[in-house]
Amino acid sequence: MAIDAGFLDELRARTPITSVIGRRVKLTRSGRNWKGCCPFHGEKTPSFYVYDDHFHCFGCGVHGDVISFVMQSEGRSFPEAVEELASAAGLEVPAQTRESREAVVHARSLEDVLNATQALWAQALYQPEGRAGLDYLLGRGLTRETIASFGLGWAGEGRGALATALEREGITPAQMAEAGLMRLDEEGRPKGELFWGRVTFPIRDRKGRLVSFGGRILGDGQPKYLNGPETALFSKRRLLFGLDRARAAVRAPRPKGVSAPDLVVVEGYMDVIALHQAGFTGAVAPLGTALTPEQLEVLWQVDRAPILCFDGDAAGRRAAVKAAQTALPLLKADHTLRFCLLPEGEDPDSLVRSRGVQTVAGLFEGARGLSDVLFDLLAGGMVQPGPEERAALRHKLTESAALIEDKTLASEYRRTLLDRFFERFRSSGRGKGGSASFSGGKGWRDESDAAAAFVLMDTTRQRQRLLLVLLLRYPALVPDMEEALCRLDLAADFAAVRGALLDFSAEGLQPVSAGNLRRWVEQNGLHETIRAVMREEDGYAAQQDDVVDPAQLVSARTQWWHFYGLLDRAQFEAEVERDIASFTEKNGDADQWQRLQARLEARERLRRGSLDDSEF
Ligand code: UTP
Ligand code: MN
Repeated sequence: MAIDAGFLDELRARTPITSVIGRRVKLTRSGRNWKGCCPFHGEKTPSFYVYDDHFHCFGCGVHGDVISFVMQSEGRSFPEAVEELASAAGLEVPAQTRESREAVVHARSLEDVLNATQALWAQALYQPEGRAGLDYLLGRGLTRETIASFGLGWAGEGRGALATALEREGITPAQMAEAGLMRLDEEGRPKGELFWGRVTFPIRDRKGRLVSFGGRILGDGQPKYLNGPETALFSKRRLLFGLDRARAAVRAPRPKGVSAPDLVVVEGYMDVIALHQAGFTGAVAPLGTALTPEQLEVLWQVDRAPILCFDGDAAGRRAAVKAAQTALPLLKADHTLRFCLLPEGEDPDSLVRSRGVQTVAGLFEGARGLSDVLFDLLAGGMVQPGPEERAALRHKLTESAALIEDKTLASEYRRTLLDRFFERFRSSGRGKGGSASFSGGKGWRDESDAAAAFVLMDTTRQRQRLLLVLLLRYPALVPDMEEALCRLDLAADFAAVRGALLDFSAEGLQPVSAGNLRRWVEQNGLHETIRAVMREEDGYAAQQDDVVDPAQLVSARTQWWHFYGLLDRAQFEAEVERDIASFTEKNGDADQWQRLQARLEARERLRRGSLDDSEF
């Protein structure tokens, strides 16, 4: 399959990467480079950058050159992508390459590759090498029937085992890569297996066709779960784990008087499997991401009001808000949602085992409609609001209703939300609002808890604002923070400020100072954009000087990571761990050490709990 390297270089030189990517992604200028919304993961604000000879997404990490873009976006093999680009560039692919292309066409389909892998892994679970995997699954309470019925398996002990076994069946590493079983290097060449030393979960589409795998490490290592990458067959945005079974269960004929199982969306693989085993055959889960609009549409094809389950902690409630926001525009009279908040720190898998089937059935029965949940998320914590708060709440309620595109439904939601508003805050008995809380023993623990969720949303915005302000004051930090910055989930106005910062940074104007940034902002007419985050007291306008004190820079950097860490503590801790590992592995230099040190210092402060936002 070797393709002449000289030919590939010429092909890359003759193929403008921006025009190839520009056919699929709307690109806009960003300094010397281009940017747009990443085609490989759902996003609304651009974090996908296109440079002279490669692309990189700061949101999901995809990376590659023009050939790998065609492979990944069109599901082509390496030789197919080369052939396609060559013919567009008017180049003749060397004969040897054409042969290997034909070999691919005649070879087995992606599905064959996946099925061959599944057969090997499922068998391995019952061999001596897979013993630890089998014990692990049995130890988590799965029966042998469940394990077999979900096709759980064991991906061999070390790297290389799968490739060797598949090669015996005539499957090449390139085909494994296409099927999402191999990592690719920057040239799009296979470089090592993705799964080994893990129990494996076959991922099937809604018709039951195998499209990818997930793998869980035994015990406590990182990452806990791996999911296969996007391929021609596998789209994480659309797929839900377990949907093939849930769909069949909901649609199966049943005796009169027996109702269909609820379609229930939970968080993880193990939750789905444990629920199915306990008889909740409508359980499905996304693959480690928030629910997308595409997934909601797929769910509604099966059930008019699927139940979404969330952990009762702060993160779970934020996820609930996010899901509600995704769903609102898509709601119809027969397309709605129910919500179920689980006791804090529990997931359906742990609940079934610790509290039993009846408790879980009770939780699902108590699931509450979206309009109820929405009201409590926005209002739950208010006890005796003043006029300004009441006005702000009314505004939020009507705005949320207005997000619904179905006009009749939007006006019904508006009425219901406002009725609740008046019932709660305008009637004589102020205290009786208790009935409206997201609780009844089934959700929010109490009203102050819902208040916390409400406040939390605003705190998040406050922290994001501080992150942006710091960068406006110290633009020299932008390149260091770029990746983390792009990962933030920002509202449109804040995202525009981020865009301006990235653009300024990409222009490479010297010196990289607050004063220079300010002039650039004025010249480009971005002053209004910046005002989304700037306040008088931020001292932005006063910052005229072009001299940056290195000591200030060091402290600003630490502060930045501190606020970043406050936004999502777990994510930050995980990132720092990764940085430490990669620093040690690569023997990083002094510069990298300084950057890592800022994050370590920030982590230390977070752990000590010192310096809250107000000290800024
Ligand atoms: P959780 O971390 O909530 O774990 O991940 P869990 O499902 O309770 O897993 P167990 O019970 O410890 O085995 C929820 C889902 O998020 C995705 C997976 O799809 C997982 O099922 N995930 C999680 C990842 O993709 N990668 C990870 O490292 C962790
Ligand atoms: Mn779990």
